[in-house]
Amino acid sequence: MPVAVDLLDTCLLFLFVFFLIFYLLKNKHPHNFPPGPWGMPLLGNVSNALDHHAIEKVSEKYGEIFSLRVAGEKIVLVVGYELVKEVLLTQGHNFLDRLVSPLCNEVFQRKGISTSNGYRWRRQRHFFDSQLNKFGESKRKQEFYIQQECIFLCDAIEDEMGCPFNPHLIISSAVANVIASLVFGKRFDYEDTDFRNLLHLSAESTLLAGSPLVWLYDAFPSLMKHFEGPHTTILANYSKLLGFLKKQIEKHKKDWDPFNHSDFTDVYIGEIDKRRKDTDAAFTVDNLAHCILDLFETGTGPMTSTLLWSLLLMAKHPEVQKNVQAEIDRVIRKSRRPCLMDRASMPYTEAVLHEIQRVGNVLPLGVPHKAFRDTTLGKYFIPKGTVVVTSLASVLSDKGQWERPQEFYPKHFLDDQGHFRKRELFLPFSAGKRACLGENLARMELFLFFTSLLQHFTFSAPQGVQLNVEAQGASARSPKPFHICVSLR
Ligand code: HEM
Repeated sequence: MPVAVDLLDTCLLFLFVFFLIFYLLKNKHPHNFPPGPWGMPLLGNVSNALDHHAIEKVSEKYGEIFSLRVAGEKIVLVVGYELVKEVLLTQGHNFLDRLVSPLCNEVFQRKGISTSNGYRWRRQRHFFDSQLNKFGESKRKQEFYIQQECIFLCDAIEDEMGCPFNPHLIISSAVANVIASLVFGKRFDYEDTDFRNLLHLSAESTLLAGSPLVWLYDAFPSLMKHFEGPHTTILANYSKLLGFLKKQIEKHKKDWDPFNHSDFTDVYIGEIDKRRKDTDAAFTVDNLAHCILDLFETGTGPMTSTLLWSLLLMAKHPEVQKNVQAEIDRVIRKSRRPCLMDRASMPYTEAVLHEIQRVGNVLPLGVPHKAFRDTTLGKYFIPKGTVVVTSLASVLSDKGQWERPQEFYPKHFLDDQGHFRKRELFLPFSAGKRACLGENLARMELFLFFTSLLQHFTFSAPQGVQLNVEAQGASARSPKPFHICVSLR
């Protein structure tokens, strides 16, 4: 018996030493790699990598470039305007690729826009860029769709008068409808059960994606796929969403008219035929479904969070809300709908919207990039394939640059004469070739939804309630669920 125990001890010791050597070798940094704290075996520094406050703390110790290990992946974090600009702009071509985690890869299979790389990404991004960002007719159409949605949004909000209500579902429905109008040429009723279900599937997946078990899946996909977990729900949800989108595309294909393209799907179907031989560009029905899913995902989450921040901050700062309403009454009045031309005459409202985005800080770490080739950043060596995360939060609240970085202070964006003041450090949409594809659309939506709402309503805290302006979520920040009161003006 003692011999068996000795043997077991020796085996355990051997396994421990083997694991330790394997762990040390796997995590050995290349020469001159940015320094960083050692993390827990297996998961690494998950808690730090997810949270931009924790990142600030690590940066106080290690400087503006440091590394963390998360779910088996070495990640370099970059803090502060100069270095963030270097990654996104000056050396943007060296950090053009995206990290696609194993779970994300199972959902998107290197299709879509935000999750593809190389030639395929360039071709797909170029297509949607030309649809979203061309001037003239296309801009007027986008303005019309948003204005139309403003009417439905205001009606739905009016129905909530009298009692405190949670605006989340109404806002996300309005925002998703703008994307639906652009890609399918149609909107959905807010009460439509299919539409509600789709919004629920998407919101649930976004929430689950932040779970530590998903990080475990990304570290050990071949092992974890044999177990049930949040990844199972995420995969099932996206499969249902893709199924729904493919059905809509098939309907478009049936009614396709080569002389009348009324939405992005119609135009893309035309491209499938034209680019059949360019297989690397992957203009296919399957890729179209993934691109549309991408637009819904990237377009609905941050937009909804920003609009929720806008309502919460207006209720919390009634004096700012009054000033915006006074500007609306002076420029637009009550009798007509806000339009994009009004933007130039409304510097105070523009400043408030910029400050809402600065304080809301909805994507504090942007979306991770990946080094496209070996390169140098600051004094450090960054090997090809390294994941690089830019802290947009550190730029949006840089203590040396903003007068009151921790406060809601619209004057950050106004000069002494009350004119709108552009700030170089305003980077909520990131910058460079991988910057937000929907920035123009998002800025139109923010202006038109916000001014339409404040033209009709005043938002306030329920009686006796102190509204909480704390955020939930780490890599995507939105206000914690809240109830608000609305009254007609
Ligand atoms: C307030 C709203 C929004 C914010 C704050 C926001 C912010 C961002 C940020 C920070 C990125 C990552 C950029 C980078 O990697 O450097 C991004 C990417 C992206 N956004 Fe937005 N976004 C918003 C709305 C939208 C809308 C409405 C759309 C849809 C049309 C959209 C579509 C995309 C796409 C497709 C990407 C990926 C681009 C690529 O990988 O090439 N976004 N967004």
